[in-house]
Amino acid sequence: MQVNVRIEAGGSSLGSPSGHPLPTLTPHVKIFDGDIEQILLSSEDIQGKIAETGEQLTRDYAGRDLLLVGVLKGAFVFMADLSRHINLPLEFDFMAVSSYGAATQTSGVVRILKDLDHEIIGRHVLVVEDIVDSGLTLSYLLKNLRTRKPASLEVCALMQKTGVQRVPLDIKYKLFEIPSVFVVGYGLDFAERFRNVPYVGTLRPEVYRDAVS
Ligand code: IMP
Repeated sequence: MQVNVRIEAGGSSLGSPSGHPLPTLTPHVKIFDGDIEQILLSSEDIQGKIAETGEQLTRDYAGRDLLLVGVLKGAFVFMADLSRHINLPLEFDFMAVSSYGAATQTSGVVRILKDLDHEIIGRHVLVVEDIVDSGLTLSYLLKNLRTRKPASLEVCALMQKTGVQRVPLDIKYKLFEIPSVFVVGYGLDFAERFRNVPYVGTLRPEVYRDAVS
């Protein structure tokens, strides 16, 4: 898919000095394509579902004081897109928790690296998470947030891996179920790379081998 971009500022068009249109930009991050083995969720799949979920959230939270709590770093891309489909006044806050580092398996140990900036007592909190794998991270976070007495506490997760959850979880808004494979892109990383890939996919085995050698 190609997107023609035209930037307007202060009422004047910022085309090239000769008046020709700006070069065509593509949202595809092609530099990583050689590392990706298979695309599981295309950019179009993701954006379509996000628009639907945004409409649902707009209906569900109408008239309520909504606070989106993003789980860093993985959820930042999803949260940015999702929030722009929620047609309500809302606020953002973020938590950072320990991730897998350069490993692809959860350690089961969750550490808060950054806490919320503000209290959530009496707020309608929606936790925005990139992916639920074992569920240990989310389960810990929800338990922790519940003690702070929000008016409501729900979860919106972009993906959930099937058949690997180790704790029962109630995820009210879940956009996709995917098989239990390690994925990157759309905010998710391997060793801090690939977060800016605009789709979700698996990596070629060589990428893992190169990372440990
Ligand atoms: P859980 O505690 O096992 O559910 O893991 C949740 C966290 O691990 C997510 O928020 C991600 O940061 C990370 N994670 C889980 N699966 C993947 C994956 O396939 N790719 C990248 N990160 C993942």
